[in-house]
Amino acid sequence: MDPIRNPFSPGAGTPPPELAGRDTILEQARVLLGRIKAGRPEKSLLLTGLRGVGKTVLLNELERVAQGDGYRTILVEAHEGKSLAVLLAPQLRRLLFDLDRIALAGDRVKRGLAVLRSFIGAIKITVGEVDIGLDIEPERGTADSGDLEVDLPEVFVALGEAARERRTSIALLIDEIQYSRAMELSALIMAKHKMQQRQLPVVLVGAGLPILPGLAGESKSYAERLFHFPEIGPLRQADAFRALQEPVKAAGVKFAPDALREIFRMTQGYPYFLQEWGYQAWNQATATPISLQVVQQASALVAERLDENFFRVRFDRLTPAEKLFLRAMSELGSGPYRTSDVAEKLGVQIGKLGPRRAGLIKKGMIYSPAYGDIAFTVPLFDQFMRRALPVFPP
Ligand SMILES: Nc1ncnc2c1ncn2[C@@H]1O[C@H](COP(=O)(O)OP(=O)(O)OP(=O)(O)O)[C@@H](O)[C@H]1O
Ligand SMILES: [Mg+2]
Repeated sequence: MDPIRNPFSPGAGTPPPELAGRDTILEQARVLLGRIKAGRPEKSLLLTGLRGVGKTVLLNELERVAQGDGYRTILVEAHEGKSLAVLLAPQLRRLLFDLDRIALAGDRVKRGLAVLRSFIGAIKITVGEVDIGLDIEPERGTADSGDLEVDLPEVFVALGEAARERRTSIALLIDEIQYSRAMELSALIMAKHKMQQRQLPVVLVGAGLPILPGLAGESKSYAERLFHFPEIGPLRQADAFRALQEPVKAAGVKFAPDALREIFRMTQGYPYFLQEWGYQAWNQATATPISLQVVQQASALVAERLDENFFRVRFDRLTPAEKLFLRAMSELGSGPYRTSDVAEKLGVQIGKLGPRRAGLIKKGMIYSPAYGDIAFTVPLFDQFMRRALPVFPP
């Protein structure tokens, strides 16, 4: 088939031709946006799931839905090396200037800017990276303590009050939330708590690798009361079939039933893999329906492409010791794994593995689905590890 007309879209955050299997979560978001706008309490959303399941795509879609519903939005991507305050400050400034342009009486927006000004002053001292101009007197004593758990809620409350005064609502969307530090997460949770108590029109939506098991104590119990944690997973068979069939149907082409079943078997319904298989199968096919044989030919190509790109970029960021750790995990099946079993496979004491385990979590390669357990964040990574390092122990 003509590669120019290929409807599939493998890539990071690229919208799929058919957003299959996400109706429940979209409906949940619609209710959340409607309720917060009406000043009613509702739990916010934290979308969690493995690499390539479609979290970023959903977050972008939710931003679009929110804007369609009259919300003003901020979307940021958290980052290993950058503080949340530094990411948020310029966006908050933009938003407050936007609100300032809505001509309605009141002084809450000016106060919002003054509070943001003092917040920026404080993070300048503690972080020293932001340099964004705000030619306004800071409101001394608010949001400038230097303690994010105190300051961030004050900024958000000032922002929420400004939005309410201008009769609008705000959606704050944060991608890759797992890169936020524990203290930043807890500041966000406190901010959400304060806004909920005051029924301010601000919605917080996060997306990222599973974080809840990593939260401790009070933060955790607050988080559970203030957020839903919908798990974004692989697509069920019927949805996976739709994700493949609908896009080609629009071009007058279809997949044969056994071809669909084969793609589902190979991808296990993981959205990123579905796009890759659909993409290559389309290019390989010369006639409709796209047959099982065509899919089987495509599989070899896809496996090669995934190994060279999707898996390899992650593999190349690892130290030899980290690679060995992951290879030992892959010896134990598809997971989750007990750290003690990994230690045994490696023939080292479990106490010695702490730093390596922490390093791999920080790099986003593994996460802890439950206390004492670890798992790969990348679907099918165990199979890749066995291909990449065939001999174990080395
Ligand atoms: N519901 C869906 N149906 C079909 N394809 C989808 C769906 N959701 C996402 N995709 C496709 O999956 C791929 C990955 O999506 P996305 O980048 O949003 O994943 P992610 O969860 O954010 O991954 P990461 O954790 O690596 O950031 C994209 O090519 C996208 O088009
Ligand atoms: Mg993403």
